[in-house]
Amino acid sequence: MNILLLGSGGREHAIAWKLAQSERLEKLYIAPGNAGTSEVGTNVDLKADDFNGIRRFVLEHAIDMVVVGPEDPLVKGIYDFFKSDAELREIPVIGPSKAGAELEGSKDFAKGFMQRHQIPTARYQTFDGEHVQEALEYLETLQPPYVLKADGLCAGKGVLILPTLDEAKRELKEMLNGMFGQASARVVIEEFLSGIECSVFVLTDGRDYKILPEAKDYKRIGEGDTGLNTGGMGSVSPVPFATREWMQKVEDRIIRPTVNGLAEEGIDYKGFIFFGLINVAGDPKVIEYNCRMGDPETETVMLRLKSDLVDLFDGVATSTLAQRSVEFDSRHAVCVMLVSGGYPEHYEKGKVMTGFDRVEGSILFHAGTALKDGSVVTNGGRVLAVSSYGNSQAEALAQSMRGAAQIQFEGKYFRRDIGQDLA
Ligand code: AMP
Ligand code: GLY
Repeated sequence: MNILLLGSGGREHAIAWKLAQSERLEKLYIAPGNAGTSEVGTNVDLKADDFNGIRRFVLEHAIDMVVVGPEDPLVKGIYDFFKSDAELREIPVIGPSKAGAELEGSKDFAKGFMQRHQIPTARYQTFDGEHVQEALEYLETLQPPYVLKADGLCAGKGVLILPTLDEAKRELKEMLNGMFGQASARVVIEEFLSGIECSVFVLTDGRDYKILPEAKDYKRIGEGDTGLNTGGMGSVSPVPFATREWMQKVEDRIIRPTVNGLAEEGIDYKGFIFFGLINVAGDPKVIEYNCRMGDPETETVMLRLKSDLVDLFDGVATSTLAQRSVEFDSRHAVCVMLVSGGYPEHYEKGKVMTGFDRVEGSILFHAGTALKDGSVVTNGGRVLAVSSYGNSQAEALAQSMRGAAQIQFEGKYFRRDIGQDLA
C-alpha cells in the first residue's frame, strides 16, 4: 500500500515510524514532513492544507490512502474534498469529515454534542457579542476559577482560566470583542473541574472502535508544572490512574456514546478521536475532543501499540475494524521533549544539532527540525522528542534522560520530571 501522511511534527514522525514497520507498506510519503520523517519515508514539498496540490500528488503517485496528522486540514474539510471528487472518491482518508472535525473545530458544537448524548462534561453556556450582559450574569452563577473558551480553533491558545470574577468579566469582553478574531466571536463559559488529566485515543470506522494506549501529556514549560503553556514538554503511557475499572467507565460513559452519537447524527467519522479527560473523584469527564492524535502523546502511544498500524487503518477504511485486534506493549514509555532556549516565547532557529549517533536505546522523533547544508538544524520551539521504553516509568524516564543528554544544540532545554507526579 502507498500512503501519504500529512503533517510535519513529532506526532507525524511517530506515526510514520510505526507505519514503516508494516509489511503491508510499500511507499510512504510525508507532506511536508521534517528531517526525521525523511529517514522513514519520502518528504513531499506540499503544505498539509494545499488540497489541490495533494490531489495532484495522490493521482500522480498512485496513493492508496491518505492519513491526516493535524486538525487543520480536517477542520477545513479534506475528507469531504476527497469524497466529492470523482477521481479521489475511492481513496480513503483517515480522519473525520468536516462535520466530525467540528468536535474539535467548535467548542460549542462539542459541548452541545455531549449534552445531546449525556456524555459527562463541565456545565456550560455559550454566548456571542449580542449577549454580553447575559454572559456576565452567567459568570456570576459560577464559582472561581472561571473557564473561558473561544469557540473556534486558536492554535491551542483559546482557553483562559481566570482566578477572579473581575478578571473573568474583563477577559470575556475582550474575547467577544475579537481577541482571537472570528474564533472568539462566540465564547463557551464553563464550570472549572478539578482533577488529573489523561488523554484517551480511539480509532473508529464510524461504527466500531478500538481503544489505543492512553497517555498523559505535560504542557507547562517548567518542572513541577509551572510557567507558561507549551505545545507539550513530554508524555507518559500507561497512566497509573487509568485502571481497568476507570477505563471501563470511560468506555461506557464516554467512548461508546460518542461513537454511537456521531453515527446517530449521520456524521461520517473514520479516524482518530482524542478524548481529553479529567478524573474528578474517580469519574472521568470530557474536557475536550480533538479529531486527531495528540502531540506529544503519540510519541509514547506508538511505542506501546504492538499491532500493525497499516492493518488498523485498512480496517477503518473498509469498515472492518471489528475484525482487527489491538495489542499493547506492556512496558512503560516516556517521551521527553527537547526545546529551543526561550520557548514558548521568543527563540532562535537554525541551531546545528549533533549527537544523534551517540543515542542508544531511545527513539528520536523529530518535531521541529530541518536539513540545512547536510546538517540537522533546529526549526521550531519544540525540536526533538526522546522516547524510551522501560520496565517501569522511572526506568523509561532515566533512559530518555540519557538520550536527552547526548543531543547537543545551543539553548537546549528539557524537563527532567516528566511523569514524576504520577509515580
Ligand atoms: P483545551 O484547549 O480545551 O485543551 O483546554 C486547555 C487546558 O485548559 C486543558 O488541558 C485543561 O488543563 C484546562 N481546562 C479546560 N477546561 C477546563 C475545565 N472545565 N476545568 C478545568 N480545567 C480546564
Ligand atoms: N497534547 C495535547 C494536544 O495534542 O492537543
